[in-house]
Amino acid sequence: MLRLDFFSGRKAQPIADDSPWEVIDLSNLPQHIAVIMDGNGRWAVSRKLPRTAGHRAGMSALKELVTTCGELGIQILTVYAFSTENWKRPVDEVGYLMHLLVEYMEKELAELHRKGVQVRAIGELAELPQAAQKALNKAEQMTRKNTGLKFNIALNYGGRREILQALRQIAQKVKTGEVDLEQIDEALFSHCLYTAGLPDPDLVIRPSGEQRLSNFLLWQCAYAEFWTSTVMWPDFRKQHLLEAIRDYQKRNRRYGGL
Ligand code: FPP
Repeated sequence: MLRLDFFSGRKAQPIADDSPWEVIDLSNLPQHIAVIMDGNGRWAVSRKLPRTAGHRAGMSALKELVTTCGELGIQILTVYAFSTENWKRPVDEVGYLMHLLVEYMEKELAELHRKGVQVRAIGELAELPQAAQKALNKAEQMTRKNTGLKFNIALNYGGRREILQALRQIAQKVKTGEVDLEQIDEALFSHCLYTAGLPDPDLVIRPSGEQRLSNFLLWQCAYAEFWTSTVMWPDFRKQHLLEAIRDYQKRNRRYGGL
């Protein structure tokens, strides 16, 4: 385990000599971390529990992740909580996930606010159940002026759908003459995404052994570093985040250059 020493220096110190962890360089943290919270179902099934128990345990892992990111000084965290494809799941499971989202907001909002976290939901939010929309609106309103961790929750989110809606916005601007074809560039396109105003993710974390993006932040992840682990999301702890960051810090990001 690592004891992070935030106040006396820039390096985290290992607690035990036999710690497998090296220090984390706090001056080279990923600015934006994106997480695909995968493996809830398999975690539950392997324990002979209903899949919903996996989602509930996943909610606890999410709480710990947000706390750790805040403590570390990570600027932006984006988590994939419900994709545009997840509606294909049994209606009970979808209902449970929506219920869990509302419960999470009800239980955690005051604490998130106290810690200065700014909550933002990204995705096609108007298609979510009313109770979920209401909980998200309340969280966004209450925390909008906070200056700590920017915490984005992707809900009814699909990367392709996000790109298509950006394309429609731009086509409309071209149609009305507000924008010339030559003015369409990466900055304009990024501005039309749900993540407008945020830098792209530096590090994408996917537990559960899968090694794909699954329609998550397709445009934004062009140069993100990818880190995977076989740990299932409900078992994802602070140590896994630190391991991912430590690995990220060893990467040589060239962005196509030399
Ligand atoms: C993917 O695992 C996970 C989800 C579709 C839901 C993620 C939700 C949570 C972590 C709950 C907490 C979130 C909020 C915002 C309260 P899976 O079910 O696809 O797992 P599997 O691949 O093992 O079946």
